[in-house]
Amino acid sequence: MTSARKITDNIYWVGAVDWHRQTFDELIPLSEGTSYNAYLVQGSERTALIDAVDPPFVPVLLDRLDQLGVKQLDYIVSNHSEQDHSGGIPMVLDRFPGAQVLCTPKAKGILRDLLPIAEPRIQTVEDGERVPLGGRSLMFFHMPWVHWPETMVTYLEEDQILFSCDLFGSHLATSALFSSQAATILPAMKRYYAEIMMPFRIPISKYLDRLGPIALKLIAPSHGPIHDKPEQVLDIYRSWTAAEPGNSVVVAYVSMHGSVQQMAERLIEALLARNVSVDPFNLAALDLGNFATALIDARTLVFASPTVLGGAHPNAVYGAYLTNALRPRARYGALLGSYSWGTKITAQLQDLLSALKLEMLGTVLAKGAPRPAEFAAIDQLADAIAARHNQ
Ligand code: FEO
Repeated sequence: MTSARKITDNIYWVGAVDWHRQTFDELIPLSEGTSYNAYLVQGSERTALIDAVDPPFVPVLLDRLDQLGVKQLDYIVSNHSEQDHSGGIPMVLDRFPGAQVLCTPKAKGILRDLLPIAEPRIQTVEDGERVPLGGRSLMFFHMPWVHWPETMVTYLEEDQILFSCDLFGSHLATSALFSSQAATILPAMKRYYAEIMMPFRIPISKYLDRLGPIALKLIAPSHGPIHDKPEQVLDIYRSWTAAEPGNSVVVAYVSMHGSVQQMAERLIEALLARNVSVDPFNLAALDLGNFATALIDARTLVFASPTVLGGAHPNAVYGAYLTNALRPRARYGALLGSYSWGTKITAQLQDLLSALKLEMLGTVLAKGAPRPAEFAAIDQLADAIAARHNQ
């Protein structure tokens, strides 16, 4: 038997905790599992389900609804069409033949592309539209690109609850219903933001402005615990999405025979000697979550690679490509590298990082092993970096 968890009168968490999931999208490591949150909102006249769950967990969702004695569902709100929230909708529609899916016009097409949902069972809602349930009403805010183009959030005005789907979420499997009870919530939220939301920093900062004047008691995302101190969450997101970058240097390197490692270590030591905060990463054993998280606070990005078949080491290519895609707000860049008879790594890595529009502060290449001239150049590079960091 699975039970719903009461949030307030006639509002319940009816989702699923995936305690042991290890990766998402075959890309993102889930060090603490995740959850797929779904919420039941009962008005005096109508009942709505906010989002569904990942398809394997639909029996859990339906069991929770059974435990609550839910015989009729009028609406399934699909805030976001990605399948970890929408994939269960066809099965829920089968169980509740009178239910309609509510979603944005953009989501309607995406849902029908991804899932077997008959067109008449989808009702689109406009930005700012209200749907009454009797005594309480759902209000929809379109918020495209958090992180797909069709997304919206749902606001329950009378109860001051924002159902924010992926936004403000965390991949955190926990028995805590509320985030104030979850000891690891902050690092989990930060990692989640870095991996999923950071590329959409600019639209999100506008949505934070829109949410600012709205009264909130709870923010109920679709992953991780419910936020019972919403203003703190909004403030944290404001700091992560602000235009001004953090103050650290990310040094991402890979080395085959030790030359690049010596260069990276010299730079790290030189920066520490200048009181500059450094986050080093060995790209040969990269934890994507930790790396992405460090990018939030980076002001300067340094990539260091040996030359392999004329270009950068594939691990450096992956690290640079990933960084470019995640769009951190770093402003400065630098490169270190080694080669024996020729190299194209400077142009290649700069090209891979081109979306970031970094001001490049220098490149130091060693022919073979680094010697005093290269170490001196690295010290000069450290001077240039330090001059752009708050110390
Ligand atoms: Fe949790 Fe974008 O899905």
